[in-house]
Amino acid sequence: MNIEPIHSLEDVTALLHTCRLSTDDIPSESPPFFFGIRAGGRLIAAVGLELYGDVGLLRSLAVDDGWRGQRLGSALVAFAETHAFNHGANTLYLFSSTAVPFFRGHGYVVTRRDEAPEAIRKTPQYAGRCSSEAFMCKTLTLLA
Ligand SMILES: CC(C)(COP(=O)(O)OP(=O)(O)OC[C@H]1O[C@@H](n2cnc3c(N)ncnc32)[C@H](O)[C@@H]1OP(=O)(O)O)[C@@H](O)C(=O)NCCC(=O)NCCS
Repeated sequence: MNIEPIHSLEDVTALLHTCRLSTDDIPSESPPFFFGIRAGGRLIAAVGLELYGDVGLLRSLAVDDGWRGQRLGSALVAFAETHAFNHGANTLYLFSSTAVPFFRGHGYVVTRRDEAPEAIRKTPQYAGRCSSEAFMCKTLTLLA
């Protein structure tokens, strides 16, 4: 399966709605970069990445229900991390309510949201997230 840049925000929002993930907090002025996987032309998995210098926000990771458990989510996380690292980011942050164990398995740790760097605090996602959601981060090192 090829991971490719996804330029159609419409395709992304359709997938996110199917996966019950919010689309309200996708920045309108500087939309995040999305990567995804298509099957038969249909977007079946996607992840968003907002890069702000040496930090980034991993967001909107979604795999269509019928395609879960085939490591597509893991492949997209690894791809986004490599992309972020190659573009100067050394730490990625994310919010999650439903997939904390999944992200733990990928090296993310729960952290205090008041320790978020300024650039992350300014994102619509940071402003919009309720306090019950976990805020997680991962330091990126040289990736294979
Ligand atoms: C979370 C999600 C992206 C995982 O995608 P996926 O392609 O099914 O994941 P993978 O096949 O790469 O799973 C790898 C492992 O994570 C586990 N896993 C998957 N989703 C999980 C979850 N929500 N919680 C805990 N573990 C999870 C799998 O059981 C698998 O475990 P294993 O390595 O022991 O076999 C997918 O379940 C999804 O789209 N969920 C709804 C949207 C969501 O919650 N997104 C995250 C918000 S940012």
